[in-house]
Amino acid sequence: MNAMAFSVPKKIEAEIDALISHYPEKRSASLMILHALQDHFGYVSGEAMEWTAAKLELQPINILELVTFYPMFRQSPIGRYHLKVCRTLSCALGGSHQLRRGLCKKLGLPEDGHGPATTADGKFTVEFVECLASCGTAPVMMCNEETHEAVSAEKAESILAKCN
Ligand code: FES
Repeated sequence: MNAMAFSVPKKIEAEIDALISHYPEKRSASLMILHALQDHFGYVSGEAMEWTAAKLELQPINILELVTFYPMFRQSPIGRYHLKVCRTLSCALGGSHQLRRGLCKKLGLPEDGHGPATTADGKFTVEFVECLASCGTAPVMMCNEETHEAVSAEKAESILAKCN
């Protein structure tokens, strides 16, 4: 591990230290720390797991187990455009699987995967997520912070076309 490459900003480390101090058992803070690191870095790298383990006086394997168990944690960076396709019931019935496949086909990504997939140029990540709270307008997807409803194949094309 290159110690110079990974560093947690002082402000975030201070927040994490404060968080840990609220728990009688340090390890209880594990998930919240991983969320904080993922929010900052966009994913949880091996270095981030080692850093977390050292902070909590645990072994890296203890942290790796959490990261691999919980689907909300990502182990690789996401693209500049993060396409989140809802796969919960209304959207699944409304065509979200076809939507995801269409996006992946257009972007040259494997069409049958379920986990996040990122283009080689790092521009797009396509990922299934759970309910985006707009179930009446399925299928729903987000492109970064923007929500798109009733996303037809044509609409998906125009969303992609606007990503520069
Ligand atoms: S089921 Fe897709 S937004 Fe709720």
